[in-house]
Amino acid sequence: MAAYKHHAFSSFIILMLFPLLLQFQFGKSELQLNYYSESCPKAEEIIKQEVAKLYYEHGNTAVSWLRNLFHDCFVQGCDASLLLESVNGIESEKASGRNFGMRNFKYVNTIKMALENECPSTVSCADVVALSARDGIVMLGGPHIEMKTGRRDSNESYAKIVEEFIPNHNDSMSSVLSRFQSVGIDVEGTVALLGAHSVGRVHCVNLVHRLYPTVDPTLDPDYAEYLKGRCPTPIPDPKQSNTRGTTVKRP
Ligand code: HEM
Ligand SMILES: *[C@@H]1O[C@H](CO)[C@@H](O)[C@H](O)[C@H]1NC(C)=O
Ligand SMILES: *[C@@H]1O[C@H](CO)[C@@H](O)[C@H](O)[C@H]1NC(C)=O
Repeated sequence: MAAYKHHAFSSFIILMLFPLLLQFQFGKSELQLNYYSESCPKAEEIIKQEVAKLYYEHGNTAVSWLRNLFHDCFVQGCDASLLLESVNGIESEKASGRNFGMRNFKYVNTIKMALENECPSTVSCADVVALSARDGIVMLGGPHIEMKTGRRDSNESYAKIVEEFIPNHNDSMSSVLSRFQSVGIDVEGTVALLGAHSVGRVHCVNLVHRLYPTVDPTLDPDYAEYLKGRCPTPIPDPKQSNTRGTTVKRP
């Protein structure tokens, strides 16, 4: 989507973002730079190429990789549990309402398949999630950041626990800050991470409560008018409660 090409990141935000996201992972002592240098020397290059190729075909993929990293890593570490499907009546993380609007999962498979062709069963999905976010940020105009690899994939994923970790769209500031603090991220770090919202979209259902019945006075009045134009009704059509609904692209 061409529109995303305008969404350049502030390098201030990005420079702060990565060290913070890296803190999410547990057992980081096992991680190392270039973990696949012997087992799959081209791994990082392949991911970078696939991310670029996908970006030119579907610009919003890069945005998805960034959100994926947050939603994977914040829920019990960067272990690709975000990608697991529901089985035997166990609802996986994907089924959580907190993951509403997440998209492009099929293209994670595209990246993984390219790796499987080169070196089968070697590169973890968790590293694909991490490195695709790193490379996606470059496509969006951010800097390239070195990232350690060697994450292991989880075989467990539960929708229920997502809500303990990922805040809801209408959580209070103090609740958001305490959630981030519980994983070791301070106020400044939280603000920097929320800079990720400089790109991507939000569905009207997630913001109409700030527009109707009265406009939230903390919103810029011109921007609020623009948002009302994009989300003209206080109760968006339930059919819009999916990724095809009316959306607002940011900024
Ligand atoms: C208080 C914490 C956060 C809350 C409550 C939150 C909530 C949301 C919501 C409601 C959406 C829109 C979903 C939709 O309507 O389609 C969204 C999108 C997004 N979020 Fe967050 N988020 C938070 C933190 C983060 C962080 C830390 C990152 C990454 C570092 C992030 C990355 C993104 C991205 C890239 C999108 C756009 C996705 C797309 O366009 O496909 N978010 N978030
Ligand atoms: C995941 O793997 C662990 C250890 O191998 C095992 O104990 C557990 O039952 C597995 N969980 C599922 C849902 O398969
Ligand atoms: C927040 O939004 C959810 C729906 O996403 C709603 O069920 C809940 O009541 C809202 N909470 C507050 C405090 O407004």
